[in-house]
Amino acid sequence: MLNLNDFIENSIKNIKNEIGNDKAIIALSGGIDSSVCSVLVKNAIGENLTAIFVDHGFLREGEADEVINLFKNRLNFKYIDASEEFLKGLKGVIDPEKKRKIIGKIFIDVFEREAEKIHSKFLVQGTIAPDWIESEGKIKSHHNLSLPGGMVLKVVEPIRELYKDEVRNIGRELSLPDNLVNRQPFPGPGLAVRIIGEITKEKLDIISKADYIVSEEVEKIGLNEDLWQYFAVLTDSKVTGVKGDQRDFGYLVVIRMVTSLDAMTAEVPDLPWNLIKAISKKITSEISEVTHVSLSISDKPPSTIEFA
Ligand code: XMP
Repeated sequence: MLNLNDFIENSIKNIKNEIGNDKAIIALSGGIDSSVCSVLVKNAIGENLTAIFVDHGFLREGEADEVINLFKNRLNFKYIDASEEFLKGLKGVIDPEKKRKIIGKIFIDVFEREAEKIHSKFLVQGTIAPDWIESEGKIKSHHNLSLPGGMVLKVVEPIRELYKDEVRNIGRELSLPDNLVNRQPFPGPGLAVRIIGEITKEKLDIISKADYIVSEEVEKIGLNEDLWQYFAVLTDSKVTGVKGDQRDFGYLVVIRMVTSLDAMTAEVPDLPWNLIKAISKKITSEISEVTHVSLSISDKPPSTIEFA
C-alpha cells in the first residue's frame, strides 16, 4: 500500500530537483487530480507555480466560486472567465465530437495566451495511471509539449503512477476539503457534454439548475456514496406538457445515475423510487422550461455514461 507521507515527501523532493528555480504553470480545474498536483508543486516551488483556472462557463452551479475561494489565497492563482469565448465558438455546432474538439481548442488557446505572460519553462499535468495506460503508454513520462501557438513546455507529472483512490488519499493528507476529495468525476468539457444539440445560454441555465437538483437530492439521502456519477442531461427534444389549463411545450430532461469501478463499464443500480419522483417534481416545478423528466435505465455498454 502507498505510504502517503513518503509519497508526498519524495514527490516534493523530486519536483524541486526537476524544476529548480524555474517557473511552472498548471491548468487547475478544481478536480481532484489538478488540485493535488497544484498543492504538491506549490509545496515544492512556492510562488514559482502559477495555477491558471480557465472557466469555460460549463461548470456546475457555484463551482467556479468554490474553486476561487479555495485556492485564491493558497496558490499563485489566476482566474480567467472565458465563458463568452466558448459560447461564441460553439454557436450553431450540434455534432458532439465537433463540440468537444472546439472546446479543447479554445481551452488550449486561452491557456496558452495566459501562459505566454508568465514565461514558464514547465507545465504541470495531473495525468494519472489510467490516463496513460489506456492510451497504451503513448504518453511518455518525460516529454515536451508544443502548444499550437509555438510555446514548448517541459511536462511534469507528479501523480502519473497513482490511481484515483490513491490521489484522493493524498488529497486528504494535503488537507483538501472533503467535497473536493470525494466529488464525483466531472468531464473536462463539463455541462457542455450534457446538452444535446446547440449549446446556448438558456440551455446552460436549465442544465445547471437540473444538475443542482439531482446532486442536492442524491446527497441529501447519502446515496452519492454508492454511485459513480449522478446528473441530469438536457435533450434537444421538446415535448408537450400542461400548465394550469394551458398546453405547454418544453424540454425533456433525463436523469442518469450509475455505479462503476473505473467508468469502462457502468450499471444503473436499483434506485429509490421516492428519490426519482422527488427529483422529477422539483425539476418540473422549479424549471419552467422543462415539461418532462425521464430516467435513463441503460448500462454501459451499450450506452456510454455521458450522453454526448
Ligand atoms: P463515457 O461517457 O465515455 O464516460 O462512458 C466515461 C467517463 O469519462 C468521463 N468523460 C470525460 N472526462 N473529458 C473528461 O475529462 C471528457 O471529454 C469526457 N467524456 C466523458 C465521464 O464523465 C465518465 O466518468
